[in-house]
Amino acid sequence: MKTSFHTPAELKDWLIERELHYGGMHKEVARKKVSPLDPRPPEVITQGGMTGGDRMQSHGFAEHYARFLMPFVQRRKSKPVLVEAGILRGTGLAIWADLFPGSRIIGLDIDLSHTRENLPFLTSRRAFSQSEPELYEFDQFVDERAKMRDILGADRIAIYIDDGFHSDDSILQSFASIQPFLARRFAAFIEDNADVWWRLQERYPQYDVRHYGMLTVMTPAPWWRQVKRSAGKVYRRFRRGKID
Ligand SMILES: C[S@@+](CC[C@H](N)C(=O)[O-])C[C@H]1O[C@@H](n2cnc3c(N)ncnc32)[C@H](O)[C@@H]1O
Repeated sequence: MKTSFHTPAELKDWLIERELHYGGMHKEVARKKVSPLDPRPPEVITQGGMTGGDRMQSHGFAEHYARFLMPFVQRRKSKPVLVEAGILRGTGLAIWADLFPGSRIIGLDIDLSHTRENLPFLTSRRAFSQSEPELYEFDQFVDERAKMRDILGADRIAIYIDDGFHSDDSILQSFASIQPFLARRFAAFIEDNADVWWRLQERYPQYDVRHYGMLTVMTPAPWWRQVKRSAGKVYRRFRRGKID
């Protein structure tokens, strides 16, 4: 298994190859269980199905994943804790486990049955040879901070991926559930929503929010921007005090 990469381009190609290796894109996966807070009418929920295994090649996100994951790949000894919300058949989890052997790979979903049923296929393709993924039921519409505290203990999330419900509300609630547990250096990938980036930027000015079509990537803002922001706050408080 290749685990060292010299350039983001090399990592990008590897991510695409791994996604195909673990089954590639799958469509029309029937919904068996949804959130009690799912806003869709029942007839929409039962129509069609879910798609997975499509982030690297079909959506073309591999280039951005490679760029932002490269620092974690290069600091391999640190074994970053990775959390993916919305895991469907676990294709993503298998790729992350190959990329970060020995790391905690945590999968969250409202319905874990699709992943559990696909684990024999993934292991037949040699996934999770170093460590099993951890699977937890998680609702993106609910405040799940207490659950995340229990799951993580003293660990902190270095890499967070949201490939779940994809609405603004679910993305914002889900991020609020994991945000207190982010590591000092982290990358958060929010998939399949072209507009939520500005709401994330508004709520979390301490982070850099970049957007590439349907993908948003968040990282900590550089130290000098955080210092500037804190200085601005102090200055505004001081001015208000003087004027009042
Ligand atoms: C697009 S699929 C995920 C594809 C997967 N990440 C992959 O790479 O193949 C969306 C997943 O989000 C899950 N989901 C839908 N609503 C959810 C909710 N409210 N909370 C958590 N997960 C949810 C679905 O069960 C489904 O597994």
